[in-house]
Amino acid sequence: MRLRSPGLFLLLLSGLQADIQKKEEVQGIVGSSVELNCVYPEGSSFDLNDFYIYWQTAMPETVVTYYLPGNTSPRYKDNRYQHRAQLSLDSMEQGNFSLRLYNITPQDEQTFHCLVFQKSLELKKVLQVNVTLHVAANYSIPVVSNPIGPSEDEELTFMCKSTNGYPRPNVYWINQTDNSLLDEALQNSTVSVNEHGLYDVVSTLRVRRAPNVNVKCCIENVLLHQNLTVSSQTEPSSGTKDKITDKPARPQEKNITVFIVFGILCVLVAVAVAAGWFYRNRRSSGSYIGIRQDSWCRLSMLILLGWALCLFKHS
Ligand SMILES: *[C@@H]1O[C@H](CO)[C@@H](O)[C@H](O)[C@H]1NC(C)=O
Ligand SMILES: *[C@@H]1O[C@H](CO)[C@@H](O)[C@H](O)[C@H]1NC(C)=O
Ligand SMILES: *[C@@H]1O[C@H](CO)[C@@H](O)[C@H](O)[C@H]1NC(C)=O
Ligand SMILES: *[C@@H]1O[C@H](CO)[C@@H](O)[C@H](O)[C@H]1NC(C)=O
Ligand SMILES: *[C@@H]1O[C@H](CO)[C@@H](O)[C@H](O)[C@H]1NC(C)=O
Ligand SMILES: *[C@@H]1O[C@H](CO)[C@@H](O)[C@H](O)[C@H]1NC(C)=O
Repeated sequence: MRLRSPGLFLLLLSGLQADIQKKEEVQGIVGSSVELNCVYPEGSSFDLNDFYIYWQTAMPETVVTYYLPGNTSPRYKDNRYQHRAQLSLDSMEQGNFSLRLYNITPQDEQTFHCLVFQKSLELKKVLQVNVTLHVAANYSIPVVSNPIGPSEDEELTFMCKSTNGYPRPNVYWINQTDNSLLDEALQNSTVSVNEHGLYDVVSTLRVRRAPNVNVKCCIENVLLHQNLTVSSQTEPSSGTKDKITDKPARPQEKNITVFIVFGILCVLVAVAVAAGWFYRNRRSSGSYIGIRQDSWCRLSMLILLGWALCLFKHS
């Protein structure tokens, strides 16, 4: 029996019993790497010329990587795994057929089967390990937006957004006053899959308008045992308040500019005055550079004064 086609072994997956069968679960984070364990318990030395080693998945049915007797390196059939799945020959010689999978994506959420057949035992399946990989990605810190809409509304609408997580999130809205969970009937969460295959979630909460409605939005990642919780606080008029605080910023900036320009002018005027005094003193002490310098000083002082007046009028 010549076993050249890797696909042939897929048929054997559900068939023959292996000497050693194991089941494992492992968790991987999107973008990082993970070790899928497949270790022959009696760790002695293995003659790789006597073994067929397969790593494959059933859904979709594909061979991740395989090693044939007499080869010097593992092979790949599926280019989705070509640069991401790695066996170590050194470890394999110790009966450790573990696979390292790099750059995990949500599509790797499946069961990987490690199959080891021994040639000298008429291709007996000596080891089978089923490793289920659970993929997780950290949700972004939720952003809770304050109620939008006119303040005459009977209701307040809060919105909470979080992105790039895996698996699907649980969303909770919490009453911050007594830490109770708010009624699900008040909420509407939309979960969508983005271009990275990760989940984005938008949740809205509608509650009766009241003074001091304090709520929290909580995004739970069950796999990471993680709750990301962010508060939102509001008062009845906070919607309009935001707009008001937006506006004074500009006039203030202008004031600062005028203030700085005036400061510079003051210094310039002071320098001009001092220079004027200096030259006048030199003239009276009999220096000959006198008259021309003094009138130049007065002229520059006049120009500066004019400039200052002009600026004053403008502001
Ligand atoms: C491993 O998976 C195969 C194919 O799904 C199944 O037949 C076998 O019983 C599983 N083995 C264990 C130990 O779970
Ligand atoms: C198996 O080999 C891999 C890769 O060399 C290594 O990271 C892992 O620790 C080994 N596992 C055991 C149980 O020796
Ligand atoms: C997930 O993100 C949160 C907030 O950015 C951080 O506090 C936490 O440590 C992260 N967890 C993991 C497992 O990366
Ligand atoms: C939050 O809890 C307080 C105290 O139990 C209650 O008075 C308030 O109505 C609750 N707020 C909402 C939005 O349910
Ligand atoms: C929830 O939000 C979605 C999207 O905004 C909308 O299509 C749907 O009608 C809403 N459902 C309820 C019960 O409000
Ligand atoms: C996250 O919050 C929910 C709702 O309050 C709770 O049921 C769950 O146990 C929390 N999970 C963790 C890991 O704290």
